[in-house]
Amino acid sequence: MSGDAIHITKVAQKKEKPKDKDLAFGTDFTDHMFLVDFEDEKGWYDPRVEPYGPLALDPATAVLHYGQGLFEGLKAFRGKDGTIRLFRPDKHVARLNRTAEKMCIPPLDPELVMKSFTTLVDIDRDWVPSMVGTSLYIRPTIIASEPFLGVRPAKKYLYFVILSPVGAYYPEGMAPVKIKVIDTYVRAVVGGLGEAKTSANYAASLHAAEDAKHEGFTQVLWLDGVHRKYIEEVGTMNIMMKIGDEIITPPLAGTILAGVTRDSVLALLREWKLRVSERPITIDELVGAAHTGTLQEVWGTGTAAVISPVGELAYKGERIVVNGGGIGPLTQKLYDTIVGIQYGTTADPHGWTVTV
Ligand code: COI
Repeated sequence: MSGDAIHITKVAQKKEKPKDKDLAFGTDFTDHMFLVDFEDEKGWYDPRVEPYGPLALDPATAVLHYGQGLFEGLKAFRGKDGTIRLFRPDKHVARLNRTAEKMCIPPLDPELVMKSFTTLVDIDRDWVPSMVGTSLYIRPTIIASEPFLGVRPAKKYLYFVILSPVGAYYPEGMAPVKIKVIDTYVRAVVGGLGEAKTSANYAASLHAAEDAKHEGFTQVLWLDGVHRKYIEEVGTMNIMMKIGDEIITPPLAGTILAGVTRDSVLALLREWKLRVSERPITIDELVGAAHTGTLQEVWGTGTAAVISPVGELAYKGERIVVNGGGIGPLTQKLYDTIVGIQYGTTADPHGWTVTV
């Protein structure tokens, strides 16, 4: 319950922090974590902060067997003036509860989730890096914690939040990535879990991503699971492209994640009075546009990936170089605007940032 007092236990000895310039993605963790338990009879109870450390789990814990769990990912940024800002935490709270609904997990009080972010980031605020391109990644997670081997929704859950100071998600940084369009594996179908931020979607992506990596690609672009022709998403980010004067991104039709950066970019593009379409687009339309010279830019959007230019797409043995393999002007403008708002160097007229 949001009214419950948060019990705080601090570490006796703080860890040594990595240098901003050495930060990778998701390898370092801060001193503390936030936890809340759920039991059928009690609801969500005992919100607390504890020293970061291993969880003791019974080997029969439900999430380990049937994957009933979810996660989120958002970031805290340190501005030049030292101010720490969270980017659109309310959108992440809402999505967490939408995923919970899909996964038969009891919803959390949005106020408590927000408090878990602000309390933990405040306690570990010295861990928020300051170099541009770095941030403190916040990973809220819920697992079915009941030790039980039957297949049904669990009666016990654990919500926890951990923090990780991070640099760029892709080793390329802001440099254009190479992506393989996949028509041999599928990620999601309508009626499935595709729009939920749950581990099953990421497990389903691993084999294709490994195959693509061995061929020199950074990621895969998924096509729809039925026709294998409509463009979906990149698994670690949503995808957008500019063909002529139209900016196109696949619609939210149940199979792709409703990205927070996707939503922010669409809002900016509409404010800039550009022509934006959330519509189905086939891979053949994209390839055709590349052939006729109207494909101008392709980029991905995501919390971890931020705005990531796509320099090359491979499909059925053909390599399509986008914008000469460089960063397009619109991609750069979107990156500069989003990053500017996150670090507090660009005005935030939408009130997207929350100061900690
Ligand atoms: C994010 O962008 O926050 C994600 O969760 C993508 C990936 C790191 C799993």
